[in-house]
Amino acid sequence: MGTKDLLMNIISETCDTNIDKVTVVGTGDVGMACVFSILAQGVSSDVAMVDLNENKMMGELMDLEHGRLFLNAKISAGKGNDYSVTAGSKVCVITAGVRQKEGESRLDLVQRNTDVLKAIVPNLVKYSPDTILIVVSNPADILTYVTWKLSGLPKHRVLGSGTNLDSSRFRLFISQRLGVAPESVHGWILGEHGDSSVAVWSGVNVGGVRLKELNPAIGTDNDPENWKSIHKQVVDAAYEVIKLKGFTNWAIGLSVASITKSILRNSNKILPVSTYIKGMCGIEHEVFLSMPCTLGRNGITSVIDPHLAEEERCYMKFSAAKMVETASGIKF
Ligand SMILES: NC(=O)c1ccc[n+]([C@@H]2O[C@H](COP(=O)([O-])OP(=O)(O)OC[C@H]3O[C@@H](n4cnc5c(N)ncnc54)[C@H](O)[C@@H]3O)[C@@H](O)[C@H]2O)c1
Repeated sequence: MGTKDLLMNIISETCDTNIDKVTVVGTGDVGMACVFSILAQGVSSDVAMVDLNENKMMGELMDLEHGRLFLNAKISAGKGNDYSVTAGSKVCVITAGVRQKEGESRLDLVQRNTDVLKAIVPNLVKYSPDTILIVVSNPADILTYVTWKLSGLPKHRVLGSGTNLDSSRFRLFISQRLGVAPESVHGWILGEHGDSSVAVWSGVNVGGVRLKELNPAIGTDNDPENWKSIHKQVVDAAYEVIKLKGFTNWAIGLSVASITKSILRNSNKILPVSTYIKGMCGIEHEVFLSMPCTLGRNGITSVIDPHLAEEERCYMKFSAAKMVETASGIKF
């Protein structure tokens, strides 16, 4: 008799993988904010992590495991470059790579982070052939395109975190100006996650009232209320935070958790994420940019054509042209 006799097995096999398993690659500031948001909100009960920096990753694993009592989830980490720990993931989030330094744009990172993806994407697909990939590393839209190419997965199973975060900032800044809650402001930033993003002023509404009906010049240079400055605030937001604390992480972590939750819960929620938009808004190139997308267990199940105003369509085409130009220089 001993403690080994405590459990009387009914069956000999145990199930090691949960149906809501999520992998996060990269356990830096962004990766850990994603992991923590996903765990703390109960989005997944099984989270695996991979990072080349083994000490950092094992430190993060131990620290989180010490709080497992409060998280109710399995957490694992692959030593070094071991992707076997990711097997059976329903969603894989890629946050690995270099980040912007002060004064650097997201597009400056493109070749360095493409090289990082070459080491990651084939491994993720090898161990989780049915997975949905969410690309967070910057420049997010171009790297979503790169990931799609490297993965061989259908386009509805590769998406970028895109402007879900930018839209959250947009709704926050409008809400602060109006003195209402961000959830009560409905508005979308589409296109590039970055400097050429498109603010869809024609669709912003609060309490069912389109602000454009009250102020037809909203978002334009002729607007006496200068709402356009809100979009500038959105574009500058990451640079501001980077200047103050060196990086951004909490808001992107929460944004990724919301995207992951929509997929795992098969919620059909519509969120602005980066997707393949050839043929939409007059764009003829293979390019990934954010559009309102329906998210469920199969990934992106539909895309909404946002019926942009003429000026917004022009901005979107400019955004696409910028992506195509930057992507053309990438060495795969
Ligand atoms: N999409 C967004 O909205 C958004 C927001 C913030 C940051 N980001 C981007 O996210 C990325 C990560 O930012 P961060 O602040 O976490 O950086 P970080 O330097 O803190 O972490 C990056 C991690 O990636 C790991 N890594 C590098 N190469 C790897 C590889 N081949 N395999 C596994 N791991 C590898 C590093 O060891 C490091 O731990 C950057 O590209 C940043 O620009 C995106």
